[in-house]
Amino acid sequence: MARSLSRAGPLAILLVLFFSAELAKAARLTTILDDHSESTNDLPTDSIDTVLETVSDTAEVNDVVRRFLDTAVGAYPPPPSPEPPQPPAPLDDSLYIDFIDMPAQGAKGTEGRPAKDLVWFDDEDFYDQLKGYKPLQLVARPKRADCSNRQCQRCLGAWKASEKQDTVYVFFRDPVQISKIYIKQLLNPGVAIVQFLRWKAPQKGSTKPRGGAIVLNQTTDSTKCGEVLTVDVPPEVSGIDLTPLKRGSANRIRPIALGATAVGGVRVTIIRPPGVGPDYGPWIEDIHFDGRALYPEDASIYDNYRLYNSTTSN
Ligand SMILES: *[C@@H]1O[C@H](CO)[C@@H](O)[C@H](O)[C@H]1NC(C)=O
Ligand SMILES: *[C@@H]1O[C@H](CO)[C@@H](O)[C@H](O)[C@H]1NC(C)=O
Repeated sequence: MARSLSRAGPLAILLVLFFSAELAKAARLTTILDDHSESTNDLPTDSIDTVLETVSDTAEVNDVVRRFLDTAVGAYPPPPSPEPPQPPAPLDDSLYIDFIDMPAQGAKGTEGRPAKDLVWFDDEDFYDQLKGYKPLQLVARPKRADCSNRQCQRCLGAWKASEKQDTVYVFFRDPVQISKIYIKQLLNPGVAIVQFLRWKAPQKGSTKPRGGAIVLNQTTDSTKCGEVLTVDVPPEVSGIDLTPLKRGSANRIRPIALGATAVGGVRVTIIRPPGVGPDYGPWIEDIHFDGRALYPEDASIYDNYRLYNSTTSN
């Protein structure tokens, strides 16, 4: 209601300006607005429309407009745009795809001796490899175990840290640049370090950071169970403002400065106090990312996580 009204606002003003106002009617509008100035959500659009439909004089509408703006948007002159300017969508999916709130695509498996270093969410054996408490829970789409009613408890659909394993890795299929990381924590929240693994093709599940940026380093974590720890990555670190060149590829990212910021995976190390039991965890339900994928091989894997809809496909 409030939103549709604020959209209707400029139109209403144009109506007033173009068709103009009879002062008496303008005064009626003013009265309506005054009566409702306490609660803009409840503005009587019907009554306003009725008045505006009959307005037909040019005189002294400014005051009405000003009052209308004061009431409807709380300012005069109104702010130019309530939303921050967005960068334009890329023209070409093959160059990059912006994504939001997206899980990574791969993690270490559980089957085989040794277990596969890297299983992708769409591998044929994914659901054979997916076990409770294991890293693949962080990339499953969908998960089989739902944690929504277990926000401060153990949950099969989460990764659980243990005495042997205080670090988890997730991997991306294409080189990515990451601007935000969301770590959803369950029982005993405690993330210490988040570090990027630099991109290297082909992806084989290597856990070497290769000089990847450390984007979080803390000794205590104030996140409550069931809450999300958010890590903001500044643009100088993410490289998200650099422009990819068409002649580049996932194997030869261009310009070179862009390649230096390309990430192939993320490493998360937890805080596990000495002497805690096997069920302590910490337990991480999900790790999601905002950013963009460079030179994506298969654009469809971003379908549910795009910031902008594709402008090339139809
Ligand atoms: C985290 O910060 C501490 C204190 O500044 C530093 O000693 C440590 O080396 C850092 N850890 C990493 C992995 O960089
Ligand atoms: C993308 O397209 C879908 C379906 O056509 C639509 O519901 C959604 O709002 C669009 N998203 C954006 C960011 O334009």
